[in-house]
Amino acid sequence: MTIYEELKKDHQTVLALLDQLIASEKAGPEPWGRLVQQIRDELVPHARAEEAILYNALRDADESKDVVLHAYREHAQAETVLRGLQISDALDLTWVGAAKQLREDLAHHIAEEEGKVFTAAKRAFSDEEATAMGAAFVQMKPRVRGENFAETTAEMIANMLPTRLRESVRKFVADAGTPRRSA
Ligand SMILES: [Fe+2]
Ligand SMILES: [Fe+2]
Repeated sequence: MTIYEELKKDHQTVLALLDQLIASEKAGPEPWGRLVQQIRDELVPHARAEEAILYNALRDADESKDVVLHAYREHAQAETVLRGLQISDALDLTWVGAAKQLREDLAHHIAEEEGKVFTAAKRAFSDEEATAMGAAFVQMKPRVRGENFAETTAEMIANMLPTRLRESVRKFVADAGTPRRSA
């Protein structure tokens, strides 16, 4: 499948999960917490892999940088609302206002992505490249799913940097995460 097909499939999955979350409000904290976790496990790996594989390839191809930077900001905004949902879960609360906000933000983001971003990508990449990117996207997501909040946030920041700085920041973060040897 091409990157476009993979992304569209995930978009539908996450919107459907958000609909379930909003509908689960009255069922109490159990389905709420399970659904918040499922949304996190869909949304964050999707966003990190999308940034690494599609957004950064577009920036490197010098294509639609403004559109891509706008999309990055929307990822950061969506993950802030997602954090609120995770906190509601930790407190055994249901917070349907945040769920509705996230659904609205993502519906807007997805419409722009499948519109402006896909149009730019189809200009920049061949069908063959789009299929290779689809495969890379599928491979990358499970790795992100296992990462914690600090790791996925550091990766978002690294993704947003210009290419020439990205690898040195990743290395810095990786080194900072290594336990220091005792002197
Ligand atoms: Fe997306
Ligand atoms: Fe996105």
